[in-house]
Amino acid sequence: MAIERTLSIIKPDATRRNLTGKINARFEENGLRIIAQKRIQLTQAQAEAFYDVHRERSFFNELVTFMMSGPVVVQVLEGEDAVAKNREIMGATNPANAAEGTIRKDFAESIEANSVHGSDSLENAAREVSFFFAEVEIVG
Ligand code: PPS
Repeated sequence: MAIERTLSIIKPDATRRNLTGKINARFEENGLRIIAQKRIQLTQAQAEAFYDVHRERSFFNELVTFMMSGPVVVQVLEGEDAVAKNREIMGATNPANAAEGTIRKDFAESIEANSVHGSDSLENAAREVSFFFAEVEIVG
């Protein structure tokens, strides 16, 4: 298995409930390293650009508004098979469908306020990492 990097976002519902440390522990316990991390407030332009792929979906405006509703923690996770492993640790998008022991099963409030985002492919991971981080900010 290859060492990969993936982009993770701890969403506003989770930062509001002070869950950053508990969520980070899930990554570390499962062999992923947090090799870059910053807490930021997304602007509307950033949130719209990041979720541009969902622009035509009915929930686009709500998703953008939610992602601006409080601070987020953006982070780069590194490890073996990191993209798929992180998706496994996160659980299904809708917490109602998330497996036991996943972040979304344990912490998410709804399909919108679902605590974490994770890149869904290696190609998107590279794009999403560079959306938030300069190479010098990533220390593997
Ligand atoms: S996935 O896993 O990307 O295929 O999931 P998808 O269903 O396509 O959802 C993409 C992101 O949109 C969010 N979402 C919603 N937000 C608000 N309201 C509704 N109804 C809704 N449905 C989905 C979902 O949390 C996904 O966010 P990210 O940050 O990409 O995980």
